[in-house]
Amino acid sequence: MRDLKTKILTAVGEDLEAINAALEENLVPHFDLTHDVAGHILFSGGKGLRPLLMVLAARLCEYNGDKAPAFAVIFEYLHAATLLHDDLVDEATVRRGQTVANVVWDNATAVLTGDFLLARSLSLAADTGNVDVIRTIARITEMMSQGEIQQLHRKGDLSLTEAEYMAVIECKTAVLFEGACRTGALVASRNTTDPQALADYGYNLGLAFQMADDLLDYTLDSEKLGKAVGADLREGKLTMPVIYALAKADPDDRLRMEGIIQNPDFSIADFKTLIELLETYGGIGYTQNTARNYVDQAKACLTGFNPSPTRDTLGDIADYALERKI
Ligand code: IPE
Ligand code: IPE
Ligand code: MG
Ligand code: MG
Repeated sequence: MRDLKTKILTAVGEDLEAINAALEENLVPHFDLTHDVAGHILFSGGKGLRPLLMVLAARLCEYNGDKAPAFAVIFEYLHAATLLHDDLVDEATVRRGQTVANVVWDNATAVLTGDFLLARSLSLAADTGNVDVIRTIARITEMMSQGEIQQLHRKGDLSLTEAEYMAVIECKTAVLFEGACRTGALVASRNTTDPQALADYGYNLGLAFQMADDLLDYTLDSEKLGKAVGADLREGKLTMPVIYALAKADPDDRLRMEGIIQNPDFSIADFKTLIELLETYGGIGYTQNTARNYVDQAKACLTGFNPSPTRDTLGDIADYALERKI
């Protein structure tokens, strides 16, 4: 049997090509520099998952216009904008295997290019002529920025609870997936299709996707990941595997874990010890199970739609969110 990624890529190859072309066509930069900085992140091998979800959602709702790729790039511009800002906030050095924009250029250039991309998203949203799309895009930016601020504020705080972690990932990740899927339904038919089922699919998928991303920080090597492994820990970013294991650990092991987490210069040996403790106390397994649960909830949101290849692909993407290795 072909693996899941190949199966999805075969089904959506043409859509991804159309999205990539639309990314270039709709950028409309005023200066070469804008193109260079935005292009550095936009054309560096991202998966294109969010615009793809928008296109598939529109197709599931029987959209028959030719604007889907143009409207879909709203979600890659938004994503790229938040990544430009996120890498600066997280002090990351590599993304998608290449040096981040704020190091290639500088912080101000990266932030302002992020702002440009956010503005392009809103302009394209206005082009839909649908006020619900504009409202969706505006809400995404409100929620994502707050998620990132909240996360930054709680950096290094060992008392972070699972509920607080969930609130952060809802804002910084799930809302964008939700909005991409909702917009697909909104552009397909303004009044006839209830966009909520697809929005719920995207929301649950987004939660699972972020949990999987947080797991990859502990389970993959940097070369495969294209970003630094263990970076979350070094940043003091507590994610579900750690929060769960800290809560379950006996007092001695909790102290060991806290010692490693609080030392930003932890060694590779320390990192391995921490991963062992995450496994011993079930932090990895618990996160995998919780993410699986959200994947299942995402898939359940699709059952009201007639069976079709598009519905199958959306189901496969939900599984892929957790199985992915990058
Ligand atoms: C990275 O998203 C940011 C998260 C929400 C975890 P992706 O894993 O979709 O990043 P690219 O666009 O494919 O590089
Ligand atoms: C996701 O958070 C980034 C945004 C939603 C803006 P992360 O900080 O975990 O993403 P990566 O790991 O840098 O891609
Ligand atoms: Mg980051
Ligand atoms: Mg991450």
